[in-house]
Amino acid sequence: MDETLNKLYFRSLVDSEREEAPTPEAHDLRKLKAEAKGLSFYYGEVAALKAVNLPVAEHQVTALIGPSGCGKSTFLRAVNRMHDLYPGSRYEGGIRFYPDDIDLLDKDVDPIEVRMRIGMVFQKPNPFPKSVFDNVAYGLRVRGERNRRLLVEKVEQALRDAALWAEVKDRLDDMALNLSGGQQQRLCIARALATEPELLLFDEPTSALDPIATASIEDLIQGLKARVTILIVTHNMQQAARVSDYTAFMYLGELVEFAPTKTLFTNPSDRRTENYLTGRFG
Ligand SMILES: Nc1ncnc2c1ncn2[C@@H]1O[C@H](COP(=O)(O)OP(=O)(O)OP(=O)(O)O)[C@@H](O)[C@H]1O
Ligand SMILES: [Mg+2]
Repeated sequence: MDETLNKLYFRSLVDSEREEAPTPEAHDLRKLKAEAKGLSFYYGEVAALKAVNLPVAEHQVTALIGPSGCGKSTFLRAVNRMHDLYPGSRYEGGIRFYPDDIDLLDKDVDPIEVRMRIGMVFQKPNPFPKSVFDNVAYGLRVRGERNRRLLVEKVEQALRDAALWAEVKDRLDDMALNLSGGQQQRLCIARALATEPELLLFDEPTSALDPIATASIEDLIQGLKARVTILIVTHNMQQAARVSDYTAFMYLGELVEFAPTKTLFTNPSDRRTENYLTGRFG
C-alpha cells in the first residue's frame, strides 16, 4: 500500500463533508474495527489522554508505543471500559466500534458485553485460582452457557487457538497457577478467545516472559489476526516491528504519529517519534 492509512484517515476527516463517489482508498477506511475520535481521559483533574484520534484497522495488528506514563494502558482500559470500575474519572470524545457503529463509551453500552467482544490480556499472566478448564470456560459461563458438551468443545477450541492444547489436554483439571509463566499467558489468551471476541487488547503481554515464550506469543498473535483484530502495547521496538501492521506513537497523552509500521520505523514524520526510536528519550 503506497498511501498510508494515516493520510487516508486524516483526509477522510477533512473530506467527510463532501458527497463524492467513494474511492478505493475510502473503501479501505470502511474496514476499520474501531476508531478513537477526539478521545480525552481524566483521572480526576489530570488529563492522561488528550484528544486522541486512532484508527484500528480490522484484521490487522496495531501497536501502541511510547515512553512510560504516556497513556498507553489508559487507552486500552478505555477501549474495554475498565475505567468504569473506578470512580472519579471522566471521558471526552468517543470510541466508535464497527460494524455496529456504536460508541463504546456510551452509557447505554453494557460494559460486561463490551468485555466479551473486546478481550484483554495483561503484562502479568492473571489466571483465576481455578482449574485450566474453568479458566477458559469462565466467560462462557458468565454469558449463561450451561451445556457441558458445548463448553467442552469451546474450551478445547480456545486452547487450540492459543497453541496450548497439546500441553494441557491431559491436565484440564489441574490448577491453572501450576502452569509455567508462558503457559499461563497462553491460558489467559485462551480465556479471552473463548467468548470469540472481535478485538483483542494486549498490554505488554510478553514483558514477563523469556525469549522462547515471547516468540510463541508473537507467532500466536500473527496467526490470530485472520480472525480477530489486535491492538498491542509494547515497550519492545523489535516486537512492534515484528508483529504489527500499523504503529501509533504516543507522548504525554497525545497521539503524535500513526503510520504503517514500516513507515513509522524507517521514515517517521515527527521529530518526537524519531527521538524516541533512536533512544533519545523514554
Ligand atoms: N489510577 C490512576 N490514577 C491517577 N493517575 C493515573 C492512574 N493510572 C495512571 N495514571 C497516570 O496517567 C498517566 C498515563 O498512565 P498509563 O498507565 O496509561 O501509562 P503507560 O503509557 O501505560 O505507561 P507504562 O509504559 O509505564 O505502562 C501517567 O501519568 C500515570 O501516572
Ligand atoms: Mg502501561
